[in-house]
Amino acid sequence: MANSQRSVPNILVTGTPGVGKSTLCEQLAERTGLEWLEVGQIAKDCECFEEFDEVYQCPVLDEDKLIDEMEDKMGQGGKIVDYHGCDFFPERWFDIVFVLRTNNTVLYDRLGHRGYTGKKLEDNVQCEIFQTILEEAQEAYKMDIVHELPSNTPDDMEENVDKITAWVEEWKLRALS
Ligand SMILES: Nc1ncnc2c1ncn2[C@@H]1O[C@H](COP(=O)(O)OP(=O)(O)OP(=O)(O)O)[C@@H](O)[C@H]1O
Ligand SMILES: [Mg+2]
Repeated sequence: MANSQRSVPNILVTGTPGVGKSTLCEQLAERTGLEWLEVGQIAKDCECFEEFDEVYQCPVLDEDKLIDEMEDKMGQGGKIVDYHGCDFFPERWFDIVFVLRTNNTVLYDRLGHRGYTGKKLEDNVQCEIFQTILEEAQEAYKMDIVHELPSNTPDDMEENVDKITAWVEEWKLRALS
């Protein structure tokens, strides 16, 4: 049932904050013509928040409201969803899931440049060390649609864009046949 009504696939790009999801998705949208949906931005636009987390100094997502908000668009197919979590989306939304991975030291520097410090910096790097998002994805989706991709260098990113673009083209051809 996963892709029965779609002629263009839906892709999930997930991973720890700072691994390069948005950078990749922007380029991928340009290359494939698929629409990039940045979940954090959609949540802001539709005010999908329910409370404020004092420890992390960020609002807590109202997941049900967000899913209602995205449902029609996802039904159309051809979406690239970009978010640092993945287990609350309906499984049927996605044809493939990519989990970006970054070396701890590289990620530490990236998040430091972004101005993250203290607990926020440490927790995000630990999230990557413990493969939290990878395991979340492997538990929420069928193993064979979950793929890890390295995201340490601009070369990695270029390779990832090439690979995913080729996959999208193949998927579209299969959907036609
Ligand atoms: N493959 C890469 N090689 C080198 N630098 C990268 C790569 N991918 C992303 N970056 C850099 O890392 C930083 C974080 O990237 P980006 O904002 O795309 O991460 P993100 O996963 O979308 O983070 P968030 O979850 O917080 O939205 C940016 O400064 C970006 O230029
Ligand atoms: Mg981002």
